[in-house]
Amino acid sequence: MSLPENINKDNLPKHLAIIMDGNGRWAKQKGMLRAFGHESGTKSVRAVVESCAKLGIENLTLYAFSTENWNRPKLEVEALMKLLISSLKGELKTLAKNDIRLNSIGNLDSLPASVKKELLDVIEKTKDNKRMTLTLALSYGSREEIMRAVRNISDKVKNNIISITDIDESIINQHLYTHDLPDVDLVIRTSGEHRISNFLLWQIAYAEFYFTDVLWPDFREKDLYDAIISYQKRERRFGKTSEQIK
Ligand code: IPE
Ligand code: IPE
Ligand code: MG
Repeated sequence: MSLPENINKDNLPKHLAIIMDGNGRWAKQKGMLRAFGHESGTKSVRAVVESCAKLGIENLTLYAFSTENWNRPKLEVEALMKLLISSLKGELKTLAKNDIRLNSIGNLDSLPASVKKELLDVIEKTKDNKRMTLTLALSYGSREEIMRAVRNISDKVKNNIISITDIDESIINQHLYTHDLPDVDLVIRTSGEHRISNFLLWQIAYAEFYFTDVLWPDFREKDLYDAIISYQKRERRFGKTSEQIK
């Protein structure tokens, strides 16, 4: 599909974050197993990644597996981990073709060694790509991220590397998994749920939100464009008055 005329390429979110939700319900509607929904969801991932790169979005972050998702049935977790490995292997070509750098946030040490190895391999092989940074949030939880940052900063204070008065927003940013990413401008959540589910709590302080009932495996380029068009109609005031913005 060609780019809709009403998308302004000069006003794209610099950082788009997506909570990809609804795979299980999508499969259930079709009388299939949840794992089939996850597998089908990878088609949406490919479509959205390619569309974002084509559009000129510099940073795309996808919530793929949360710290809370470890509490799902063992079989589902195993299916998701297997799917991650095959997707990483399979998508390297797409990333290379589109000049996309892979990045990840989350507690990688809690992932199975085979997943971590594949992930680090693709990150290494795409590290010089420039068009877009694709960040996968894997075994990611925002509270855990903040807790780690507090621990690491405390450690530096204790060892006199920094003083308490040095701690400002920028120091906190530097200790988050997202230290090399800009703040999130737009969050999309699919499947009709209106919640954040422990995703990027610090980084979404001034983000815009777009919720859609579309289930993730049905989400395509057109749905992405609808979200961007909605984003571009909003006035982001950052505490100021409307008159000050104009
Ligand atoms: C999102 O779809 C994928 C993951 C959380 C891994 P769900 O699996 O949460 O699907 P629903 O919400 O049960 O439909
Ligand atoms: C959030 O989806 C996590 C991911 C999309 C990976 P969930 O489906 O796990 O969220 P809750 O638990 O319903 O809030
Ligand atoms: Mg869900």
